[in-house]
Amino acid sequence: MKDIAYYNGQTGPIDEMTVPMNDRACYFGDGVYDVSYVFNHIPMAIDEHIDRIYRSAAMIDIHPSMEKKELKHILFSLIDRVEGESLILYFQFSRGVAPRGHDYTNMTGVPSLWAYVKPAALVDAFQDYKGITVEDKRFFFCNIKTINLLPSVLANHQAHAAGAEEAILHRGDRVTEGSHSNISILKDGVLQTAPLDELILPGITRAHVIRICQRLSIPVREEPFTVKEMMEADEVFFTASGALCCRFYEIDGIPVGGRDMKTFCAIRDAYEAERRAECGLD
Ligand code: PDD
Repeated sequence: MKDIAYYNGQTGPIDEMTVPMNDRACYFGDGVYDVSYVFNHIPMAIDEHIDRIYRSAAMIDIHPSMEKKELKHILFSLIDRVEGESLILYFQFSRGVAPRGHDYTNMTGVPSLWAYVKPAALVDAFQDYKGITVEDKRFFFCNIKTINLLPSVLANHQAHAAGAEEAILHRGDRVTEGSHSNISILKDGVLQTAPLDELILPGITRAHVIRICQRLSIPVREEPFTVKEMMEADEVFFTASGALCCRFYEIDGIPVGGRDMKTFCAIRDAYEAERRAECGLD
């Protein structure tokens, strides 16, 4: 198949899939999701993505009826049915189907599983990107990968309308993360990235980058940095499953980075090598 969608045991082409209007995802964004990229039919870091969706779900009191093993089996069976060497795997649990009502105490159904697989390419980590800064107006559940993404959608649109690729969110002075990525800087040979709190998503790519730095003996500081520090950093880059490691050359129309390409390229290339090895591409 060219692509596939899944909803509570039913499958079909994405464009033909319909879901019940009363799924609480539709009214409330009452659910959590995760995303992995798939090469050679192997989803990258799949166990980490599955662990994270169960963690996200538990944090909003959603308790999937299936075990992680069963979810993994379903996801692999979807991947197997789609042609293509480079795919995106999206999956989400919503609280389930019930007539609209904020309180879910008396809900009888089980959480719904939604998923799709379709062709998609990674953002090219060998290009440089433009960003803009946007005030972070999200609520304080940013560590949970909820499907409530309106502020991220608006910020990302603002970036594209300005001819940029990513919106870099900040609360006051403090850079939090991107609209759909984590942001890191390099300064004096040290990688600095925001600490894991309720203001950022614990990105799986971010975690891999930290491990790569440790392997390459690049010191890591998980501490907040300001917009000014970012603008003056040696390099600024975003990380996400769909992009791995991509550097900015301009933010808000001002040139940034370009002063430590050696360290940036070492991290990016190590990540690319990791992807190729994990997915059997060599
Ligand atoms: N987004 N921060 C936010 C707000 C994100 O939405 C994402 C990813 C990340 C990076 O997380 P990871 O490295 O685990 O992909 C950080 C996904 C890809 C999306 O919404 O499509």
